[in-house]
Amino acid sequence: MGKIIIDCDPGHDDAFAIMLAVRHLEVLGITTVGGNSPLEKTTLNALKILEALGREDIPVHAGHACPLVVPLVTAPMFHGESGLDGPVLPQPRRGPAQGHGVDFLIDTIMAHPDLSLVATGPLTNVAAALGREPRIASRLKEIALMGGSATYGNWTPTAEFNIFVDPEAAWKVFEAGVPIKMCGLNLTQQACVTPREFTRIAAVPTRTGKLAAELLTFFMASSIKAAGIKGCDLHDALAVAWLIRPGLITSAPMHVTVELKGEYTRGMTVCDYRHLRSDKPGVDLARSDFYPPRGRKPNAEVGLELDFEGFIDLLLETLASLP
Ligand code: BDR
Ligand code: CA
Repeated sequence: MGKIIIDCDPGHDDAFAIMLAVRHLEVLGITTVGGNSPLEKTTLNALKILEALGREDIPVHAGHACPLVVPLVTAPMFHGESGLDGPVLPQPRRGPAQGHGVDFLIDTIMAHPDLSLVATGPLTNVAAALGREPRIASRLKEIALMGGSATYGNWTPTAEFNIFVDPEAAWKVFEAGVPIKMCGLNLTQQACVTPREFTRIAAVPTRTGKLAAELLTFFMASSIKAAGIKGCDLHDALAVAWLIRPGLITSAPMHVTVELKGEYTRGMTVCDYRHLRSDKPGVDLARSDFYPPRGRKPNAEVGLELDFEGFIDLLLETLASLP
């Protein structure tokens, strides 16, 4: 079982990422960040989700409340006032673990070679950890993240929410030299749960199946209202699904960086896929002279196509085999 840490801002789709992770991977801990809602709420929500899953053995460490440079922007129109509206979950029996989330990230990554970091919120904690202890970049196996887009944005025409909230942090993470699996909107909008899938999920006869249905009831309604789409996108779940069942996602290597200065494009993930043109068959991506002047070698596997039915099957299996 692969070892992971999840850095997140739960969040409905973060909750699905956590469900998949606790069932299929060894979760060494969860760190929380201000994002979908302020830090106190994302931390409380992480504790509530783990308690509902019977996993109070997994520590939750609160990290940064605010982005590195700019004020926090939250997303109550999607996740509600609590950041996890819908299910009525009891006040958790425990509080967050001692120690800042960034310290936990550094200490745990240094202690465990071959650890994957899953990041499903703004990248503030991850960038802060890399800044404080740059050696974690070579210790980490990979960062699987939900953020950005190889096409268009959701928060602005060009920026996705997680990257928009803390672009400076995202820039640091993409430039750090850690292998990245990027689940951007171009991929995660393929994970849209509509009333059709909802019916199948709501029929899973476990407590976790019921929790999933309650989360989806709110998240579908808020997404339909706020974004005018036909259901809700389980964005964050894909960052974990990719580690569990890599065959669900087709990807391509690209160089990705983050626009920090553009008047209209701040927070955009600039994905270089010039080498993927269909009239360049047989290109050897390993050839160092391939990239045109100023082009840079790939630093990320960018998710492009999702096997949606396979993803729903994984979700149903997971919900059925949790308490
Ligand atoms: C991302 O923004 C948040 O609202 C979701 O939890 C997800 O991580 C999608 O843009
Ligand atoms: Ca999230």
